[in-house]
Amino acid sequence: MKVPFYTSTREYELYKEEFDAAISEVLHRGDFILGKDVLEFEHLAAEYLGVRYAVGVASGTDALVLGSDILGFKGGEVLTPVFTFFASASCIVRAGGKPVFVDIEPDTFNIDCSDLEQKITSKTKGIVPVHLFLQPANMERIMQLAQTYNLAVLEDAAEAWGMKTLVNGIWHYAGTIAPIGIYSFFPTKTLGAYGDAGLMVTNDEELYNKIKSYRVHGSSQKYFHDYVGYNSRLDTVQAAILKVKIKRIDEAIQKRLHHARHYNERLSKFEEITIPKIKENNQAVYYVYSIMLDRRDDLAKRFQEKNIGYSIYYPLPLHLQKCFAYLGYKEGNFPVAERVSKRIIALPMFPELTENEVDYVCDVIEDFVKHG
Ligand SMILES: Cc1ncc(COP(=O)(O)O)c(C=O)c1O
Repeated sequence: MKVPFYTSTREYELYKEEFDAAISEVLHRGDFILGKDVLEFEHLAAEYLGVRYAVGVASGTDALVLGSDILGFKGGEVLTPVFTFFASASCIVRAGGKPVFVDIEPDTFNIDCSDLEQKITSKTKGIVPVHLFLQPANMERIMQLAQTYNLAVLEDAAEAWGMKTLVNGIWHYAGTIAPIGIYSFFPTKTLGAYGDAGLMVTNDEELYNKIKSYRVHGSSQKYFHDYVGYNSRLDTVQAAILKVKIKRIDEAIQKRLHHARHYNERLSKFEEITIPKIKENNQAVYYVYSIMLDRRDDLAKRFQEKNIGYSIYYPLPLHLQKCFAYLGYKEGNFPVAERVSKRIIALPMFPELTENEVDYVCDVIEDFVKHG
């Protein structure tokens, strides 16, 4: 058997007619730049998330860069977890700020709020919290700290479509709590396009107008520029694909949950393996199902031999990346993130995975644990 880590082709084959029709309509209309489907998808996304405004952009990375620029990170220190995808920190640099890294919680992999508070200084301008893999960061605490210290917050919900968290007793979708939240529709994501795509959301009209202007060179009227902005628009073909996919997103999320429960059932009995834990105040969406074990690299080798796809998110924490050497961090500065990055491995996870495939992955893990 061969189990892919992720594939889009099964979903495409299932709903081929709908996808083909959606793409072909764009080609017939020819409204490639900010066409009808972009506006319609933005409305559907805003409605789903319960926010006033949603603006489609070219990628999650661009959404972070535009957000960092708009929130004014320039010249300040901005706190972000040391264990996340590169873009959560590079956006700060792109906007002229200095990333200050924060360690993570060992069980959720999300930003550790006590380390976060300790790192706030008079130079701190903002926070980029990240909702990693399957559940949101502690947004209630983050927003309290932001208010106390007067900090801007840019919520990196690139991985977090559909995740929810309790803030002051009310359930909120991840990405809708801070003044600006961003999502990625990179193909592997829970709501994935068939190419690069991203979204920015806000409830603030002024920020909304700025975001819309920033994605088209800082202009609200063609050839008249209020800001030095960007060219970062959600592609109309991608918006058409996302419109097809958002209709069934809750069903897709349930299928991921079903696979996660299956993995949990099969893997929780092995002491050597740590399975994901969900906090009470969070509702998970299994974008990624990661386990941890000391013999991670040996298991990865076994997966290769047995034709099982896997991914290591993330093998090197950000403070040890070459491009951030100028920040002066050293090995040992972030013990939790360093340990997690050596032990973590993500198993195949996408809605169209079959029960047999999950069983096969678990059989291989069971044999590895029991017989080496
Ligand atoms: C946490 C996080 N932030 C940002 C991004 C960047 O998104 P994109 O790949 O759409 O540029 C990703 C995903 O790739 C991500 O996982």
